[in-house]
Amino acid sequence: MPQYKYLLDEKETPTHWYNIIADMKEPPPPYRHPVTLELMGPDDLAPVFPMELIKQEVSAERYIEIPDEVRDVLKMWRPSPLYRASRWEKALDTPAKIYYKWEGVSPPGSHKPNTAVAQAYYAKQEGLAGLATETGAGQWGSALSFATQFFGLKCKVFMVAISFQQKPYRRIAMETWGGAVVPSPSSETNAGRAILEQDPESPGSLGIAISEAVEYAVTHDGYKYALGSVVNFVLLHQTVVGQETKKQMEMAGDYPDILIGCAGGGSNAAGFIYPFLRDKLTGEKPDLRAIFVESTASPSMTRGIYAYDWGDTAKMAPVAKMYTVGHTFIPAPVHAGGLRYHGMAPSICALLKQGQVEARAYHQNAVFDAAQSFAQAEGFIIAPETAHAVRAVYDEAMICKESGESKVIVFNNSGHGHFDMAAYDAYHREELPDYELDESRIEIALKELPQIPE
Ligand SMILES: Cc1ncc(COP(=O)(O)O)c(C=O)c1O
Repeated sequence: MPQYKYLLDEKETPTHWYNIIADMKEPPPPYRHPVTLELMGPDDLAPVFPMELIKQEVSAERYIEIPDEVRDVLKMWRPSPLYRASRWEKALDTPAKIYYKWEGVSPPGSHKPNTAVAQAYYAKQEGLAGLATETGAGQWGSALSFATQFFGLKCKVFMVAISFQQKPYRRIAMETWGGAVVPSPSSETNAGRAILEQDPESPGSLGIAISEAVEYAVTHDGYKYALGSVVNFVLLHQTVVGQETKKQMEMAGDYPDILIGCAGGGSNAAGFIYPFLRDKLTGEKPDLRAIFVESTASPSMTRGIYAYDWGDTAKMAPVAKMYTVGHTFIPAPVHAGGLRYHGMAPSICALLKQGQVEARAYHQNAVFDAAQSFAQAEGFIIAPETAHAVRAVYDEAMICKESGESKVIVFNNSGHGHFDMAAYDAYHREELPDYELDESRIEIALKELPQIPE
């Protein structure tokens, strides 16, 4: 009888976060101030983020201890299970060995609470009253609404308008956990009002929603801003995923040949991949492949350029060196709302530039076949974002089928798709909106990057 699940005991929930910056030969360059474009120090970030998180953002320590209070909440669902996808392997008739880490077991249904709990904890420690944030698909807003309750904090969520319309149940979930949700662009901020003036029907974007949340945080007493992806401390908090997976792969007696994760800002993929990537950076596993999978609707790593850009549309967030399609680029309104970000985490971009990891992009219409095939074999109905990773796994499994190689492919199953039935319905009816990437819009957006002397 095959073994399907590899489970860890609650007491094996990781005690530390792993910081890949400590093992990178060339870490990503520091942030620049959004207005002066000068190098940014920790004090410049203080109005926006709690100080402990800023310290983590700039830390070069390899391991950072997880506070007991954070670990205590994480243990509600951690460690999460690792599955061997034996049934899917059989359905695909591939010699590849496929495993997946299942993050859909958290109460909000994705990896996002791994960092939401930590951010809420540090906000409480600093004596704050609440956190403001943006959300694309609704997973991050759900995670923060869920996490803030444990620490008695308020939560204000700017939800990208297109998702707000497509996913009313996500909004209701956030409200059930106590979050206050508005569609973005909204009339509550200068940034939102400026966009609405130009386009009252704007579908919104993560870049716009970030601008609104930052503005709200810095203009409301007792509030700071919480971010669901991209920055170092978020990726750091997600490394509980990869550390657990490493132990579980030891239990399974295999080591990955290929690691795969979907990437919006890059946090689930990085948190899953970095603890393994350490083995590559130290020379222990030189052949390990890691693939970050994005959407062709916002193809920062595969079509963008490696340059400094603002983290948001209204140029309020720090300027980071990253692969970007430009902060003014507005992606097509695809169902994978969490993959509609114009940039990518600076550490992933630096590793991509250095040839340590790979990137690939899929069109929305290419990912649901794989998600459906996965659901029919493994049972789990996954988020549209995660479906991008599953499509890459499918393609790698087919390459193994051609070559007869039995590669070990491990992916991060970042969340369930229970609030994404409209997307599956559109797929079944063959009504997924088609979109073509308009290259000229990227060209226009790239003309608006900041000019920073190298
Ligand atoms: C289930 C799921 N997976 C992946 C992502 C992409 O985000 P990240 O790249 O930060 O993991 C999201 C974002 O909303 C998500 O909800």
